[in-house]
Amino acid sequence: MPSSRLTIPEIQAKKGKEKICALTAYDFLFARLLDEAGLDLILVGDSAAMVVLGYEDTLPVTMEEMLVLARAVSRGAKRALVVGDMPFLSYQVSDEEAIRNAGRFLKEGGCQAVKIEGGREMAPRISRIVQAGIPVLGHIGLTPQRAVSLGGFKVQGRDVTSAKRLLEDAQILVEAGVFALVLECVPRELAAEITRRIPVPTIGIGAGAETDGQILVLHDVLGLFEGFRPRFVKSYAHLAEEARRAIKEYIREVREGLFPQEEHGFRLSEEVKKALKL
Ligand code: KIV
Repeated sequence: MPSSRLTIPEIQAKKGKEKICALTAYDFLFARLLDEAGLDLILVGDSAAMVVLGYEDTLPVTMEEMLVLARAVSRGAKRALVVGDMPFLSYQVSDEEAIRNAGRFLKEGGCQAVKIEGGREMAPRISRIVQAGIPVLGHIGLTPQRAVSLGGFKVQGRDVTSAKRLLEDAQILVEAGVFALVLECVPRELAAEITRRIPVPTIGIGAGAETDGQILVLHDVLGLFEGFRPRFVKSYAHLAEEARRAIKEYIREVREGLFPQEEHGFRLSEEVKKALKL
């Protein structure tokens, strides 16, 4: 049966024609909502570490945890391309480990591609993974797994040396075989120039409006995550407030005996009541 899922060439063909819309998701329910809304790409981001699992940063999340989330997302998304985010230390140690772990996102997680953070230093590894038949989405600029070495969650490429380095890294990653490139926290003009220079789509997060697509963390977009909120985030709803209101209302009604009402329950038939002498 032909699949209606977006393919990588279809995503790539949008470059310069139509914006690529991407968000993260970490479970079946939201993946289905995003898919039904017509999103192009769903990233099972390692941001799950913070917004789902409650860790301080993205470093502790494991392959096993990511695979559970990836499987749930894949079950919910029928049309969007699903990309698994390779967690810290799942691809840094050796080519062999990186290929095996990337492959697990496809074989066990139901994803169509993986994302890997890093510039030129990761290019040979990315090339090996791509040669193994696993599509890779690159990620440069602010790479949260290296936030400590980068001096925190800061905009990257602001001075001449680092801007040139990012321009070169983008080209090197294209040569290594990435099918698209996430640009995180990069000045708008630099992201626009990278977008002009490389043949594959750029997907920006805090990188201005000239990239080929945009990605944000779903829990930020929905106003569900109330922790750290970068400047580039726009919330289109305030679901945490709404959830808090609903839960408080539930607690009040249970405490006051207002819930459940007759319509929320079940009754025995007269016959059974009689037999039980109720
Ligand atoms: O893990 C993540 O959420 C990301 C971003 C690009 C959204 O890597």
